[in-house]
This record gives sequence, structure tokens and C-alpha cells, in this order.
Amino acid sequence: MRQLVDVIPLPASVRPDPAANFTLTTGVSVSAAPELADLAVHLAELLRRATGFPVPLRTNGPIRILLEGSDKNFVAGSGRNPDQERRTGAYRLDISTDGVTLRAADQEGLFAGIQTIRQLLPEPMANKGGITEISESGEQHPAATHALPGGRIDDAPRFPYRGTMLDLARHFYPLPDLKRYIDTIAQLKINHLHLHLTDDQGWRLEIPSWPKLTEVSGGAGTGVDGAGPGFLSTADYTDLVAYAKGRFVTIVPEIDMPGHVNAAQRAYTDLTTDQKPVPQRTDKTVGYSSLAANQENTYEFVEDVIREVAAITPGPYLHIGGDEAFSTPPDDYQTFMSRVLPLIGKYGKRAIGWHEMTAVELPADAIPQYWRIEATHDGIKRAAAAGHQVIMSPADHTYLDMKYVEETTLGLDWAGFLDVRRAYDWDPADRLPGVGEESLLGVEAPLWSETLRSLADVEFMAFPRLAAIAEVAWTPRAGRDWESFRARLTSFAPRWTAQGVNFNINWE
Ligand code: ACM
Repeated sequence: MRQLVDVIPLPASVRPDPAANFTLTTGVSVSAAPELADLAVHLAELLRRATGFPVPLRTNGPIRILLEGSDKNFVAGSGRNPDQERRTGAYRLDISTDGVTLRAADQEGLFAGIQTIRQLLPEPMANKGGITEISESGEQHPAATHALPGGRIDDAPRFPYRGTMLDLARHFYPLPDLKRYIDTIAQLKINHLHLHLTDDQGWRLEIPSWPKLTEVSGGAGTGVDGAGPGFLSTADYTDLVAYAKGRFVTIVPEIDMPGHVNAAQRAYTDLTTDQKPVPQRTDKTVGYSSLAANQENTYEFVEDVIREVAAITPGPYLHIGGDEAFSTPPDDYQTFMSRVLPLIGKYGKRAIGWHEMTAVELPADAIPQYWRIEATHDGIKRAAAAGHQVIMSPADHTYLDMKYVEETTLGLDWAGFLDVRRAYDWDPADRLPGVGEESLLGVEAPLWSETLRSLADVEFMAFPRLAAIAEVAWTPRAGRDWESFRARLTSFAPRWTAQGVNFNINWE
């Protein structure tokens, strides 16, 4: 049986009670109110896979899921301070000899608690010689026993935004791969998936009023080095967003501008400054393309795109890029961003942008995303001082496309090598003077895909490092410890093997 603390990310508070373990038997069932049926089914499926028992839903089962917003006694997520605001995603898990009770004030909290229960079920260790361990892969030893460790977990996230980014522009990954990736990240309580949908190489989201974007720039040979064609149709994207929502993951679409736009200009020559056709570009150079800040058709294009992306995105955010606009003169960058940022609010979304956007006056709710380690940070500090929330993605700790070590065959190294310890051993509230805990919306680990041709490549770069970032973003700072994380990761890793996730097995 596993230990109650053997969970990634580490819960805020764990109180084991070794006398109170719960043994699952053939007749075990799950009970929940009808409006929680999806969550109950999710938990029952996990228990079924782990035990081989039928695990039906019943009105009075020993494993109970409760939505308890109005219960005065329930303070999960308020830590030890009852006055502290309850956080979305908080939950309380009680395991005793009689059964299991999972409570939360919102469904996100119940989903988070179910991910914790999942990790408390033993990982596959059939080859250990023992017979008590059970498998995520659905295989059970006939003589296995199944138990959950007794005690109480009171848990809540440190930050509301716990994200990762996937670059679909340099290489595209088909819809089933994206869904599978969402399943894997959601187990770590990552709740935002930022999709970098457009760049110089490719345009990966259908925009019905500008069809050539994907007809031309989502077609064959538009990935780096000519690989990885494809795009999400409006129907695919809608399907993906709904799938993510079912796993409490919010999709954050990024349309990168005014730079990184060669794919758009190749589809529509009018969007260039000199009205001359541009060639297809599938090299890795950045900073050579720019929309024309002084042409009216630029803004017609941008407004159509923002309106259409906003219309199919239920989440609150739209990411506008804004990075590495080296071919946009500073005055033009001001002109462009000052006109475009308010359009995001006009269509009901909150703007996120790479931190270069702090060069312009931001709408009050705009969120800069810090990434570039050598930049001067005055703009972000000013934005934080003015009350803006910030997302932390320092490349030297969170860029999952950096090689683990020199010998890593995939990835880049411009921000240095990023081993698992480096992804873990830093704190987002210490990174920039003047941008402390209260200024942070959260943490995101971007994964740029220049060198990543398949989901297997993506998984290799993301895992285990995304598990480290997930703990940075979820676990209270005082509870984090590298040696503890390393031990829990060692115990977690066979779960990825059982799920067929191509994690970097040589992570130590
Ligand atoms: C970035 O890495 N260009 C945001």
C-alpha cells in the first residue's frame, strides 16, 4: 500500500492515520449526487481499472463524493487559517476503515481530489515478486488486495493558474494526441493548456473568414524542416476545448502578433508591408516578420481573428503573443498593440501576452507572461506595481524545450540545460524583485516544438519536468523539498510506464 503523502503535487496538509486504512472489496461502490455523475463515473472507472471490481454507482456506497459549499465545518483550502479565502480547486479527503469521503466546494476541487485518490492506488509492480500491487494498465493479480492509506488530506492550490504551453505551429500534433496529452497533464493538477497556434511556419486554427490561413499555411510541409502539417478545424478546436473542460483544463489560444506572422502573410500577401509574396519558411529563425502597423487591412484581419477565436473559446483568456517583434519598429509596436489589446476586451476576453507587451500601456486586466531571462524587467515590475497579475515562465526553469543535459538529442539549449532538479528548485515569488506572491496569477511551463516531431517527443520533454513545475505551482512553498519530491517521483514514474507515456526514464 502507498503512503498518504505519496502524491504529486504534494498536498497542502497530510495527516496519516495508519490504523484507518480502507480495504476495497468486490462490492465496493461510489456514491454521489446526480449532478456529480460525470465525476463519480470518472472515479469508478479508475477504481475499476485498479481493482478489477465492478464498482457500480450506488446511493449509499462507501466511497462518497460531496459538493459541500455551504458546510460551515468544511474549510478545505483555507489551510490552518480559517479566515483565509477558500480557493477554487480545494478539497478534503478522508480515508477511514469505513470508507472514503471526498468533499469540495466546487467540481474542480472534486476532480483534484480524484487525481489524488488515483495516485494513492498502488502503481504496477507485478514484477516485484509480491502479489499485493495492482496496475493502472488494467491488469490485476487474482490474489491482489487493494487498500487506500488512512488519514486526512486538506488540499488547495497555491496559484489559480497552473499551465503548460504546446507549440502547434512548428510541428502539429493531431487531435487524439492533444486529448491524450490533456489526460496526462490533468493528473498533475495542471489546469491550463496554452496552445501556440500560429507562427512563421504554420497557422494551425481554422479562421472561417480568412480560409487561406489554414488552406495554405496548415498544409503539407509547413512544419519545421518540412514535417508536421495539419491544423485544427473549428469543429476540432471545439471538440478539444470541451474535452479539456471535462478534465478541468482551460484552453488558452495564442495568436502571435505583430511578429511571427510569415504563415499569415504567405496566405494573404496584402498583409505584408510591401504587398509582395513571401516564401514559405520552415527554418528556425525568429524575428523577421511583422504585420504592418500603419495599414488598415491589418486591423480588419486582426479583429476578425480575435472575434472568431473568442467566439469558440469559452475560457477567459486570449493570448496575443507580442514577443520577439524584432522587425516591428518600436513606434509601430506601440501603435499596433495599443489598437489590438482593447479588441481582446471588446470580445469578452482577458489578454495574456509575452512580457514584451509591457512596453505599451496595458488594459487593466491584461496579464504579462515573463519568459526571457536576460531582459530588463522594468516593464513587468511597473505592471505588477500597477496591479497586473503576472504569469511566471522563466526560460531557465520552465522551458520544457531546453535539453535536460548536453547529451539530450531533442530540444534546444539557449537558456541552458534544464534537469528535473532545476525545474523544481526555484520559487516563482523570488524570481523578480517587485513581482512577489501577490502579483502572481501562476506558473506556466512552455514547450516549443522546433525539434519535436511526435507526441512521443513531446512527452519525453514534458515528463518528468512538468511534474516538478506542477508542484511549484500547487504546493505551498513551505511544503516543498527536493529530496521529498525526488522520492515521490521515483514512486510515481511506473504510473507513466503503465499509461504508455514516453517520459524521460533517465531523469536522474
Ligand atoms: C518566446 O519564447 N519567444 C516567448
